[in-house]
Amino acid sequence: MRNIDEHNITDAVIARLCDSQDTRHKEVMTSLIRHLHGFVRDVRLTEREWEQSIRFLTATGQKCDDKRQEFILLSDVLGVSMLTVAMNQSWPEGATEATVFGPFHVEDAPRCDSGADIAHGAPGKPLDVDIEVVDLQGQPVVGAEVDTWQADEDGLYDVQRPELGETRRARGVFLTDAEGKVRFSSVLPTSYPVPTDGPVGELLLATGRHPWRPSHIHFRIRAPGFATLITHLFQEGDSYLDSDVVFGVRSSLIANFGHHGEDNQARHTLRHRFVLAHAPAPRSSTSE
Ligand code: BEZ
Ligand code: FE
Repeated sequence: MRNIDEHNITDAVIARLCDSQDTRHKEVMTSLIRHLHGFVRDVRLTEREWEQSIRFLTATGQKCDDKRQEFILLSDVLGVSMLTVAMNQSWPEGATEATVFGPFHVEDAPRCDSGADIAHGAPGKPLDVDIEVVDLQGQPVVGAEVDTWQADEDGLYDVQRPELGETRRARGVFLTDAEGKVRFSSVLPTSYPVPTDGPVGELLLATGRHPWRPSHIHFRIRAPGFATLITHLFQEGDSYLDSDVVFGVRSSLIANFGHHGEDNQARHTLRHRFVLAHAPAPRSSTSE
């Protein structure tokens, strides 16, 4: 096709997908091209803005390494991560809601026995966590893997502290007991800003947005026959609950991290019952 202009170029690009063998890939690419061209037309993108966009995406890629994923952060602050979670991880009424995974999970967190103190010197006020995992009928889920990770009082995860090397702290993996329960001690987390020393930080600044996430603890709960739950518990009363930079807060995930005892002796306590949904039936190959 010749004589391409701003009116016929979208159909011309989509027509080039005609030999695409993978029907889902073709569907996704067709929509992507339509929306991308629609966006360029909508804002009447200038050539200077096109160059700036290319520079921004290049810098985003250059900021990525094996510890830092600036593209995921971009997806997070644009609400794309949470939109994808909301569409793909919506469980039946009564099951605990999911939220974003975030970049600070590690696969080699220490395996711990119930009752363990996972703080290992992380700064913060003491916190006792009491977790119960049940199914939609309220029956305990025995032997579920409860993987938890969190920031410390300085708003930092262990992996953000180069001085710790490979030392892991304020994270651990537990198995629920015969009553579906797990207990551990840790430190009270705090609200923290997502990393702002890269292009995503510049984008937040340029759009007048703050970079803060409300105080929370992450959980990934897995058990055979159940849908894997990836979620957080957010600290009630945090001032960023209504403006989380990655749009991850759900009211049902806000919990009381209340304290008892006098000021410097005070211990905080978090109790929560997680409800797992049964795993969706696998799609049969004949229905595709
Ligand atoms: C987190 O909660 O760990 C997180 C989520 C999204 C972006 C940055 C951090
Ligand atoms: Fe987090």
